[in-house]
Amino acid sequence: MSYFVSTLYIAAFAMFIYGLMGLTGPRTAVRGNYIAAAGMFVAVVAVLIDIRDTDNWALIIAGLLVGVVLGVPPALRTRMTAMPQLVALFNGVGGGTVALIAWAEFLGSDGFTDVDTVPSAPFVVGSLFAAIVGSISFWGSLVAFAKLQELLNKNLEKRVVAAAKAFQLANIVLALAAVGVAIFIGVNADPANAPTSTIWIGALLVAAGVMGLFVVLPIGGADMPVVISLLNAMTGLSAAAMGLALNNQAMIVAGMIVGASGSILTNLMAKAMNRSIPAIVFGAFGGGEAGGAVGATAGGTVKATSASDAAIQMAYANQVIVVPGYGLAVAQAQHAVKEMADLLDERGVEVKYAIHPVAGRMPGHMNVLLAEADVEYDAMKEMDDINGEFGRTDVTVVIGANDVTNPSAREDAGSPIYGMPILNVDQSKSVIVLKRSMSSGYAGIDNPLFTADQTSMLFGDAKKMVSEVTEELKAL
Ligand code: TAP
Repeated sequence: MSYFVSTLYIAAFAMFIYGLMGLTGPRTAVRGNYIAAAGMFVAVVAVLIDIRDTDNWALIIAGLLVGVVLGVPPALRTRMTAMPQLVALFNGVGGGTVALIAWAEFLGSDGFTDVDTVPSAPFVVGSLFAAIVGSISFWGSLVAFAKLQELLNKNLEKRVVAAAKAFQLANIVLALAAVGVAIFIGVNADPANAPTSTIWIGALLVAAGVMGLFVVLPIGGADMPVVISLLNAMTGLSAAAMGLALNNQAMIVAGMIVGASGSILTNLMAKAMNRSIPAIVFGAFGGGEAGGAVGATAGGTVKATSASDAAIQMAYANQVIVVPGYGLAVAQAQHAVKEMADLLDERGVEVKYAIHPVAGRMPGHMNVLLAEADVEYDAMKEMDDINGEFGRTDVTVVIGANDVTNPSAREDAGSPIYGMPILNVDQSKSVIVLKRSMSSGYAGIDNPLFTADQTSMLFGDAKKMVSEVTEELKAL
């Protein structure tokens, strides 16, 4: 590798890391994304310069074109609510690519079939690890995508899920089979064994792939963001392992960054939900579908309110805190909420937004939605910064949020979400909860906030009801 190519790689790594730093805050996130993308462009250019003597330019250009044609339009067109499945798909492609590279290396001139080369230990271990993990990640991500995109026929999905649950033991067998085959290939790693290895590597990819399908199939759609983050971390690790096998610094560094950031994100999400990663992967309360229709009355009295009463309450408050949740995303009510907040602001009411780290269905979901509606970043407060303010807030409006406001997480040791940090909405002087019914949220449990003395329910679709409140505010 020439010094020029090495310099380009180092520039690309610096841009990845600098870009990633930008993603830590909404103000710098877009710029961070562009910088990391530019870093990837530099890395690709470095690879192309490095392999400039290849005879395969036609294939390489065809591959690049296929990537651009398949990648750019969905990235531009996908709605924010569909981002998790797009991430799953892109991540799966990464895992699948690593598995294919491992496979190709076993078939190609640099692999076992090269009679002049005895494969080195890093090559054997790295590529076999990459093949297993990449294959799991590819097939697992495809299932995640299909589930979130609701591509699976419901009846068929139920039957497949039941079968996959019944065959959970099979995962252990498949894992042992994949590792066993990998050891067999590793022990027999000799150019003379190339044809046998070629067959066995196929068996290894199939065993790992079926395992990816069986592990992810029974997991409920609502748990998918955490699973996708986990699969993302696995793709990163497999790429780093393949990079080690091929002594390719770009793959090692990029893979390590993806692996590390994916692992950190998975951990943060699990922690913010107060659940362990095994509980998420092997199913607990998120094992079902999102938003079950379990009653959430907690045995108390529900007080319904109207758009006009809600408008009056807010108009005469000093401070209003808006708590956005998954329902706001579903209803796409962000612009309506901004319009309502602007009217309140004109009346001298201070409006803040309380953002729970796992509100919605993906990290930063609420920040992205509100930023799309031009809500100022300073008005979006993180949980720890706003929790002390609820006690001196006149009105808190909960819009399509449920679990992240559930006081049982703080008070009821028997609750499945006990210990999950929540927004202390119940400490406000008055609470308006806007949702369509008394249905539970993602965790499928009752929320005593809905029947608390200070709470009134404004029933309806978030966008429709916020618009009605706005009209009432205009009329005041
Ligand atoms: P949820 O607890 O899921 O509650 C959302 C509520 O929105 C539902 O109760 C639903 O009630 C209401 N809703 C749905 N559509 C609506 C519409 N069109 N208009 C008005 N309301 C609507 O949401 P949350 O409070 O944001 O909590 C997020 C949950 O997801 C947490 O349990 C979290 O652990 C989990 N989770 C989060 C993530 C990330 S990374 N954010 C990842 C996986 C899981 P109705 O049906 O009565 O309207």
